[in-house]
Amino acid sequence: MWILNLIKRIFGKNTSMIQLILFGPPGSGKGTQAKFLVESYGLIHISTGDLFRYEMGNDTPLGKEAKSYISKGELVPDSVTIGMLKNKVNQHPDAKGFIYDGFPRTIPQAEALDEFLASNGSSITSLLSLTVGDEEIVHRIKQRGQTSGRADDLNEDIIRNRIAVYKENTAEVFDYYNAKGKALPIDGMGTIDDIAARLKDAVGNSI
Ligand code: C5P
Ligand code: MG
Repeated sequence: MWILNLIKRIFGKNTSMIQLILFGPPGSGKGTQAKFLVESYGLIHISTGDLFRYEMGNDTPLGKEAKSYISKGELVPDSVTIGMLKNKVNQHPDAKGFIYDGFPRTIPQAEALDEFLASNGSSITSLLSLTVGDEEIVHRIKQRGQTSGRADDLNEDIIRNRIAVYKENTAEVFDYYNAKGKALPIDGMGTIDDIAARLKDAVGNSI
């Protein structure tokens, strides 16, 4: 496989890859909307939250470490999350592109992602940022908690801490990509179909 990657690098094939970040606070609809974008553009969907939950479900050492943060609504340390993300991307050398959901959640994660993509001759196409008000988030996550099986969706204090962590550590990732002219705010209120249509328009205009 390495030889294929080398050829792609030499001929710059990866510059045409679509690399989307689906951004926004917890409960803003990233996972829901990622499914539509995957169908429309044939992208690989990588949700770091889902990867952590898979590890937690299998009670692996990574899962145990992640659980100690996720159960409080805190962020898993950057080095752990970045390593896991790179592993997952490397499992798909022939992908047309990726949609990153729930990553990057900090500036160091954004810098690491940019560096990693650059080393593969690629770069972020755009960051799509779903905007949703705090009370709507709490309402949505509590509702999701009825069926998601996620302990962090059931407790309002943990939900509110996740929102606080988003504002404190994650929101600035929007500014980071905005400075590069790559951040697109998308109204995340309304029906799932309305939001999907807004995202499709935004992606269509940016690729
Ligand atoms: O993205 P999602 O909301 O599914 O993530 C669930 C939890 O996983 C977050 O609240 C956080 O504790 C952890 N996480 C993280 N760093 C990421 C993605 C998720 O710490 N980049
Ligand atoms: Mg999600």
